[in-house]
Amino acid sequence: MKNLHILTILLLFIISNGFAQDVNLHLNSRAADESLPFNPILEPFYHGVASGDPLADAVVIWTRVTPTADEPIDVNWEMATDTAFADVIASGMFTTDADRDYTVKLDVVGLDAATTYYYRFSALDGTSITGRTRTAPDGASEHLKFGVVSCNNYQSGYFSAFGRLAERNDIDAVLHLGDFIYEYHTGGYGYTEEVGRGHQPDHEILELSDYRIRYSYYRLDADLRRAMQQHPFILIWDDHEVANDAWLNGANNHTPNEGDYADRKNAATQALFEWVPIRDNATQTVYRSFSYGNMADVIMLDTRHEGRTQQVDTLEDPTLTDPDRYLLGPEQMQWFKDGLSNSTATWKVVGNQIVFAQLFVQELDATFFDGARHLFLDTWYGYPTKREEVINHIADNDIDNTVFVTGDVHISLSFDISTAPRDTLVYNAESGMGSIAVEAVTPSISSDNYDELLGAGVASLLASIFPGYNPHNKHIEVVHHGYIILDLTAEKAQMDYYYLDNGMTTPDSPESFFTGFYTNVNENYLNPTDVPAPPKTTQEIPAPDPTADMTISTTTPNEDILLLSVYPNPYRDFVTLNYALAQTQQVHIALYDATGKLVKTLYNDRQIAGNYDFRFAAGDLVTGMYFLHLNTEHGGVVRKLVKE
Ligand SMILES: [Fe+2]
Repeated sequence: MKNLHILTILLLFIISNGFAQDVNLHLNSRAADESLPFNPILEPFYHGVASGDPLADAVVIWTRVTPTADEPIDVNWEMATDTAFADVIASGMFTTDADRDYTVKLDVVGLDAATTYYYRFSALDGTSITGRTRTAPDGASEHLKFGVVSCNNYQSGYFSAFGRLAERNDIDAVLHLGDFIYEYHTGGYGYTEEVGRGHQPDHEILELSDYRIRYSYYRLDADLRRAMQQHPFILIWDDHEVANDAWLNGANNHTPNEGDYADRKNAATQALFEWVPIRDNATQTVYRSFSYGNMADVIMLDTRHEGRTQQVDTLEDPTLTDPDRYLLGPEQMQWFKDGLSNSTATWKVVGNQIVFAQLFVQELDATFFDGARHLFLDTWYGYPTKREEVINHIADNDIDNTVFVTGDVHISLSFDISTAPRDTLVYNAESGMGSIAVEAVTPSISSDNYDELLGAGVASLLASIFPGYNPHNKHIEVVHHGYIILDLTAEKAQMDYYYLDNGMTTPDSPESFFTGFYTNVNENYLNPTDVPAPPKTTQEIPAPDPTADMTISTTTPNEDILLLSVYPNPYRDFVTLNYALAQTQQVHIALYDATGKLVKTLYNDRQIAGNYDFRFAAGDLVTGMYFLHLNTEHGGVVRKLVKE
């Protein structure tokens, strides 16, 4: 952790003045969450809770229990219709262990449709925070609201947009369109100096333990924790859950010296299914659909890792339009087209990683910069034959009310979609006639957008000239961070853009409605509006947040250092520890044998408060049992370690 926040400085001041041994600090939630690398009040469920993949009668619930020994843990769970758990409608026990990184994920079935539930877990003498979730409707519904988000890069900035989403009480689900984590080393892509939020591990993530630690680090963020506590998430992955600009068998950010790509992808896939509330399936398929009754079918695509042919580098590549260049594998493409054709719901919501609409950027070479025409070859733009196949399928079958929601590019865009956007005989940009579907692209939660990547002047130039070449483009905004609220009724689909007032570099930024676009049912083109869609008539009761008002003891040993994970155990050659320090102090890490004799001191130095990834080689030890001691000035933890 690069930042010494005010609280940490205050703690150091108190400790250095010698009267801190039993100090208790009364803190509000923001100060505590931002100042401590973990929140001790959440023990042993430091990562909070989450839910996802809602059906009319089932929902996935999730937590992670931080173990005190590397052995299986029985975790009890219960679900109720009220926050006091007076009306428990389901309960059970789930055994987790190191094979799944002590994550807990289960499908609670037999639920009522369109119903809000509360759930919690207990283990190791602790109880988790309470989560709130909601099942999908079965049949009629009057009003649905979805959060639409993507691209939360921890080291770029604060997740305030998640914090604002958490405060809403009428969201059916949050559609997360990918880039839930980023794979780079600390200081790599997107690192914002003035924010100073590093992450763990420090290096680019390649192995299973790396991906697990990265997810763990992100999931300790208070804003993300609150959003996942309050709403079910429907997540798909984009490239950075594995590596930048990924395709089926490789990625732009994977080099031969980083090992076998298939191994890396397998590790990333395993960690994804462990650490996010996606419903398990035998083939670990990410594309899937959700019925929201008569109102909507939500079709979530995997344009990234399932069947994609490698990107071309230039628009002039002769293979660009080859019919056997795939974006979705043939099976997924057929499933997608069938999903659109067979849907009997009013709205077909397509959750998709990358910009779908046609992009006319060739002319930008002259007015923007030479080579601009190659900018978007990682999107559907680089797979024009497949994009036209989808557009023609919608047009030829007279499929109404398709709404694409998209992430990946970190800027706000919205489009009408037609078979020929620049042919005025086919599409009229003024009236919208000839548009067959619409698309809304969400800005990033916290990942560089174009002013941060290109500079403010270049970004505003792009935003000013792009619509001139793209008559079907209804909105382009390249500076703000935030999210979209997708609001569905029988009459219209509205997409409202909410932006952070203070950007991603200030914690806990407030937000404002910026602009909205809607399509009336069966009209399939966008209209602008200055008025956000109204809230639902019924507002749900939020799940209580015990971190909102709490007391933290700074000297209780268990609250001083937290050992989040030991990978692997038993081990052969290397051991990786992930631990967090609540305050800056001397840290001593040592290995003892079964008789209590010191084998080796691994670390003995001062460390600032933060989260640490510590790897050591111990392959030369004889097989057997050892004890790992992590000690600080105020206490410590011991973990049994087995050399095999
Ligand atoms: Fe991204």
